[in-house]
Amino acid sequence: MTAVRPVRLNRRAGLTAGASLVGLSTPGTAFAVGEPASMNRQDHAPGTAPPHRPGLQVAPPLRDLADARGIRIGAAVASRPLVAEPAYREILAREFSSVTCENVMKPSFLQPSQGRFDFQAADAIVAFATAHGMTIRGHTLVWHNQNPAWLERVAASGENASAALRDHITGVLTHYRNDGPVPVPAWDVVNEAITDTGALRDTLWARALGPGYLADLFRWANEADPDARLFYNDYGAEGMGRKADAVYELLRGLVQDGVPVHGVGLQMHVGIGARQSPSRPDLAANIARLRALGLEVHVTEMDVKLQTGTGTDDERLDEQAKVYADILGTCIEAGVTSFTFWGFTDAHSWIPGFTGKPDGALPFDTTYAPKPAYHALTRVLAGG
Ligand code: G3I
Repeated sequence: MTAVRPVRLNRRAGLTAGASLVGLSTPGTAFAVGEPASMNRQDHAPGTAPPHRPGLQVAPPLRDLADARGIRIGAAVASRPLVAEPAYREILAREFSSVTCENVMKPSFLQPSQGRFDFQAADAIVAFATAHGMTIRGHTLVWHNQNPAWLERVAASGENASAALRDHITGVLTHYRNDGPVPVPAWDVVNEAITDTGALRDTLWARALGPGYLADLFRWANEADPDARLFYNDYGAEGMGRKADAVYELLRGLVQDGVPVHGVGLQMHVGIGARQSPSRPDLAANIARLRALGLEVHVTEMDVKLQTGTGTDDERLDEQAKVYADILGTCIEAGVTSFTFWGFTDAHSWIPGFTGKPDGALPFDTTYAPKPAYHALTRVLAGG
């Protein structure tokens, strides 16, 4: 294992990581920070270390700062760059204390054909996380996307749908039981079951199992692993509003009925520009009411789109940094216990593929240089 050398930088000079961005870091090693390059700037190949530029400032990594604040700081991880890119592994291990599989724990990956589970890709990520002292958020047991064809067929037929879904949940949670060799402490049991207007989403599962199906999912999960912390996860329900109210009511009902639900994941796919992210008071109020139900609150998928804003590259990056900082600061004050980004480098973000436009929604740029967002997050975690 290679120790990480401190990195130095110049203001507005792009980042600098010495030759140390190869191999794996020792968790907790200090990482030099600096003011980053502007959006899309790239002065070296992706996956390689940014060039070294001498400077002065050295700051602890996000995960060390987060530890001191009692919060986990996480990133969604994709299998391909984890295998192929040393810089990806290096930064992931150094900066983050929690990992979510971006795709490979979803049903299409874990049970590609009925009764045949394939944990290989997911276990590789879990092994990396464990080796680097990171916790794992399991994502996701039940969703209306990324299901294998056989499961969609079973759901559509209506016959044995409930048994098939229960078997999936049981098979996955048995493999990842917390008293077993590959523990996964927290799971997004169900993802995005509420519509933008606050109705129960009309999904293959709602149709096959009926409107009360969500309670069953949590009960099945709890039976399979009584030690797993079970979350409801959704987007667009972060601040106050129709959808947030519906998610709150859903959870209030589940808690009231004694359903084993332990937390809520606020995805936090937001952007710069007017009304593209929740206001601090709204976010704080929503978190407070969810916590008042006895639930743990995690931010599970944060990224901040630039394409929703205006201004120069530098102005947009500064605005992005402020959005990241405001939301993290609010969440820490409100008692959020885990804060995960949906990726960490613009080299591997779902946003350009999804929107069809270039962007730069994450705290590290495509060259793995930290952006103003990274430094703003650092300052918030440091209590500044
Ligand atoms: O697995 C196939 C592969 O075999 C094929 O070669 C390749 C060619 O495009 O596609 C691969 O599937 C892709 C899959 O990711 C795995 O890489 C799909 O095309 C692609 O659409 C899929 O996108 C994922 C998306 O969920 C699916 O809806 C994104 O990477 C992932 O970031 C995104 O994550 C979701 C969260 O789970 C829930 N919240 C929203 C978030 C963003 O959409």
